[in-house]
Amino acid sequence: MSKEPERVKEEKLQAKIASGKKIETLDEMTDEYRENLTHLMMMQADSELAGAFGYVPWIAKSPDIKETLQVAQIVKDEVRHARVMYRLLEGMGINVDDYYQSHNFNLRVQDDDIGTKRVAEDKRVNIFYYPIETWYDFIMFNFCMDRGAGHQLEDAMDSSYKPWCDVMDGIFKEEGMHMAHGDQWTEKLAKDDKTHDELQKALDKWYPRTMNIFGRAESPKNKIYRKLGLKKRDNDEVRQSFAADVKNKCAQFGLKVPDWKPEISKMTEEPFIPG
Ligand SMILES: [Fe+2]
Ligand SMILES: [Fe+2]
Repeated sequence: MSKEPERVKEEKLQAKIASGKKIETLDEMTDEYRENLTHLMMMQADSELAGAFGYVPWIAKSPDIKETLQVAQIVKDEVRHARVMYRLLEGMGINVDDYYQSHNFNLRVQDDDIGTKRVAEDKRVNIFYYPIETWYDFIMFNFCMDRGAGHQLEDAMDSSYKPWCDVMDGIFKEEGMHMAHGDQWTEKLAKDDKTHDELQKALDKWYPRTMNIFGRAESPKNKIYRKLGLKKRDNDEVRQSFAADVKNKCAQFGLKVPDWKPEISKMTEEPFIPG
């Protein structure tokens, strides 16, 4: 039997997406759909894993035993998110074992600002190349990046690829717990005069980095993702909902929202995902 022409597949795929139904099998996918979906899921998987590895030293360096358990739990969650995403990628035909062995997810840079530079061949979102050097960094990563990831992942929860949606519920809940961990600590450190300024400094560092993860407004790539049902909103819309959320929290905790201006050169061309 001859293979279904790409044009026919495309029509069927678009009709299915337009009717709100979800794609479930490889057979239904056009090349364009498969490539874009693989790319987005790979970005998420690599970011989850690199995020987990960045947290690992803080299991031992946390302020007390209660936090050691908390951080260990967060590391376990992130490794689980990565594993779940790589399993989906295996289902798309990716040789995950080879990929895992040929990339260094522990790699970090010392630069304060790497812009959009691709530091290595993995697909993690740039923010995951920065090291977490202090407990304030750890908390601000939870406060900013897990919150940013939450806003991003809302779209993935209802994407057109059913197996991805199915795993997102659990991931989303756990990201919410990481964010809550960040919020509790942020409130505590912000309201203590002895720690307030250090925390503000960490916010000044991590907020602009997080604002840059969402990608450019009206990027051509985002339009393709939306056409394929892999995203729902424009990059800037997601960024603005994150910014409004942070503004509200900062007002509650007595922190100042750092200035941020869109600098195209510092923004990822396409939005990532995860946390
Ligand atoms: Fe995660
Ligand atoms: Fe997280």
